[in-house]
Amino acid sequence: MSDAISGAIEAERADSGWALHADALSFAYAGGAPTFEHITLGVRPREIVALLGGSGCGKSTLLRVLAGLQAPSAGTVQFLGAPLTEPNPRSALVFQQASLLPWLNVTANVGFGLDFARQPKIARAEHQQRVQDAIAAVGLAGSEKRYPAALSGGMAQRVALARALARQPELLFADEPFSALDAITRAEMQTLLVDVVHRWHTAALLVTHDIDEAILVADRIVLMGGRPGAIVREWQVDLARPRLADSDAASKLRFDILAALQGVRSTASTTTESTL
Ligand SMILES: Nc1ncnc2c1ncn2[C@@H]1O[C@H](COP(=O)(O)OP(=O)(O)OP(=O)(O)O)[C@@H](O)[C@H]1O
Ligand SMILES: [Mg+2]
Repeated sequence: MSDAISGAIEAERADSGWALHADALSFAYAGGAPTFEHITLGVRPREIVALLGGSGCGKSTLLRVLAGLQAPSAGTVQFLGAPLTEPNPRSALVFQQASLLPWLNVTANVGFGLDFARQPKIARAEHQQRVQDAIAAVGLAGSEKRYPAALSGGMAQRVALARALARQPELLFADEPFSALDAITRAEMQTLLVDVVHRWHTAALLVTHDIDEAILVADRIVLMGGRPGAIVREWQVDLARPRLADSDAASKLRFDILAALQGVRSTASTTTESTL
């Protein structure tokens, strides 16, 4: 990235104070009841925000709208100070499934899409450097020639994360990226995510239904719940890193979040089917 462009992006960020900001967002699938309503939510530059909520409350739908993959029924999304109407190449997505192309090796999977027309043009040498840096950052140096069939689930998710990082995103959207992994691999990946997000100076919006994951990873936790979905509460997580799930402060926060979740559940169950 040239200094001038990087300076312009910094200026944009400073202008609005948000990398991403959504205002009064509502969404309904065709012919259906609203999935969520009146959601206002922001992610600051370099901030890690966890969007936490029970299954079916609309987290993935909200993430897709925030990423520009789906248009809202009402409300607006601003990304780097400009209205977002389609996915922006300065954002990247990681999903629960790594979705690697089986006929491409690790290097080619990480570089895949970097040359697409929508992406900013980069020289071949920079392409190679970015791919190499991203592979090294996720701890896969030495595995460049492997094919997806020869990767464990954790390694495949590392490739997916590297593919996102190679885009040098301002914002990383991640939808339950570790929920299919075993507990030990998940813990490693949570630490890795925080590490690379900090080193890449990227903001992240992490969708999760795991309270401990949110506490271990996030700078701020936003709780979504109810039907239609809404933002119920948020917490600033000012715990020192690396965080310990069993510290007193983490336990207190976990208790607060659980109490809030139960509050949403009892309100929802008196009106309609519970989503939490
Ligand atoms: N393509 C679709 N068409 C119609 N309804 C949908 C569609 N996708 C999701 N829904 C519905 O929208 C609601 C929210 O779904 P969504 O996947 O956003 O929830 P979620 O919080 O991500 O759930 P989970 O934790 O299980 O991933 C659910 O009731 C779901 O059935
Ligand atoms: Mg989901």
